[in-house]
Amino acid sequence: MSTVIKGGTIVTHDLTYVADVLIEGGRIAAIGPGLRGDVELDATGCFVMPGGIDPHTHLEMPFMGTYSADNFESGTRAALAGGTTMVVDFALPSPGQGLLDALEMWHNKSGRANCDYSYHMAVTWWGEKVFDDMAAVVDRGITSFKHFLAYKGALMVNDDELFSSFQRVRDLGAIAMVHAENGDVVAELSARLLREGNVGPEAHAYSRPPQVEGEATNRAIMIADMAGAPLYVVHTSCEDSHEAIRRARAAGKRVWGEPLIQHLTLDESEYFNADWDHAARRVMSPPFRNKQHQDSLWAGLSSGSLSVVATDHCAFTTAQKRSGVGDFTKIPNGTGGLEDRMPMLWTYGVVTGRITMNEFVAVTSTNAAKIFGMYPKKGAVAVGSDADLVVWDPMREKVIGAATQQSAIDYNVFEGKRVTGLPRFTLTRGQVAVFDGEVRTQEGHGEFVAREPNGAVNRALSTFKELTAPRPVVRAGIPASGV
Ligand code: URP
Ligand code: ZN
Ligand code: ZN
Ligand code: ZN
Repeated sequence: MSTVIKGGTIVTHDLTYVADVLIEGGRIAAIGPGLRGDVELDATGCFVMPGGIDPHTHLEMPFMGTYSADNFESGTRAALAGGTTMVVDFALPSPGQGLLDALEMWHNKSGRANCDYSYHMAVTWWGEKVFDDMAAVVDRGITSFKHFLAYKGALMVNDDELFSSFQRVRDLGAIAMVHAENGDVVAELSARLLREGNVGPEAHAYSRPPQVEGEATNRAIMIADMAGAPLYVVHTSCEDSHEAIRRARAAGKRVWGEPLIQHLTLDESEYFNADWDHAARRVMSPPFRNKQHQDSLWAGLSSGSLSVVATDHCAFTTAQKRSGVGDFTKIPNGTGGLEDRMPMLWTYGVVTGRITMNEFVAVTSTNAAKIFGMYPKKGAVAVGSDADLVVWDPMREKVIGAATQQSAIDYNVFEGKRVTGLPRFTLTRGQVAVFDGEVRTQEGHGEFVAREPNGAVNRALSTFKELTAPRPVVRAGIPASGV
């Protein structure tokens, strides 16, 4: 059975043109005028774009004494409802656990996915077992390794571990990823705030100022530089971190920054709402910032110094958030956003003129596909690519609200925001998951996407060359006058 998307305007990261799209066997079979198929989807007045890729989600993740509330079923249903056709989740070994064990756990959860998915592997501790497992993980198609510089006493790795892991990443031709916040400083500031009676959710923001993120981003970039590993910085939220990324890129380093839709559109005033629940529901790391930082992130998207807009979807119910009443450090960190990322970015980015439609496609889909080694299978409207597509209706509107969302949680951080631009159809490998705005997902349809290492080390760097070249022994360590 073939499907044809008729009468739409195709928008890719670099082209905009009128053509039909023919789909056979889950892939794009032809692009051109006047195509016919068994099923015809009317795209008149719509933009036909690569389905979104969200390379940063945490579905059913054990974290801070609980599990994130959206699993691979509800999470990917939310994704498809909003035009996202692939997620990359984080497999998270507990301390001492082998990476392949953790991978097995994540494979068991993801069988319920409605759309395709992949994983990044987290390196949460260091040892010979991790070193060995990393090669096996790459053999299984997982070519990106995440490191936390925050969450001291839990997920955080120290600089010696970071340097060892980054070198291993370089040797495997994989990509290093980092959550860049200085966990030691956060722990000190948090303890002081609690001592002083600052126990509410607003103290979460006080405990993680932009400098904490800027310092860790600079440090990670320099350590990646010495190791020769390409580096992807997740949830870049502020100018301090963005500035480090810009500088690294200008110096020829393979470093990418990923702002979240939450940081682009919500600011720190959310934490000063009189309602404890309102503020706690928005507790995430890094916290929301002020307008100047938001402007910096938008500028990064249009100039190309920031590459991908993600969600870090890690949703907790109000009941889960309330485990932090009386102590902000116990509020589970994380917010949702999978269903809203593309409509929010379209509304606040494309409709306002901050970014073009082609830039929208680049930062919601194509750049992630390229950086993480799955282009043009994903992230493209091209013959042979998977038919992961969104038929985007720029006239369709709604007001975002928990009452109508797919996510399993009982609120939405974008509650009340009016968005213009929504999917008319979303297709996952040719299967229609959203039909004329109605969600028709199929549990278990999603498949694991294995990725290839691209071997893109930071060889351009003089420091890397110095560190890896044979080092001359200049003298034998004995003073000339003898001992
Ligand atoms: O607060 C956040 N971001 N929670 C999810 C875990 C992480 O740090 O990405
Ligand atoms: Zn191109
Ligand atoms: Zn993080
Ligand atoms: Zn995350």
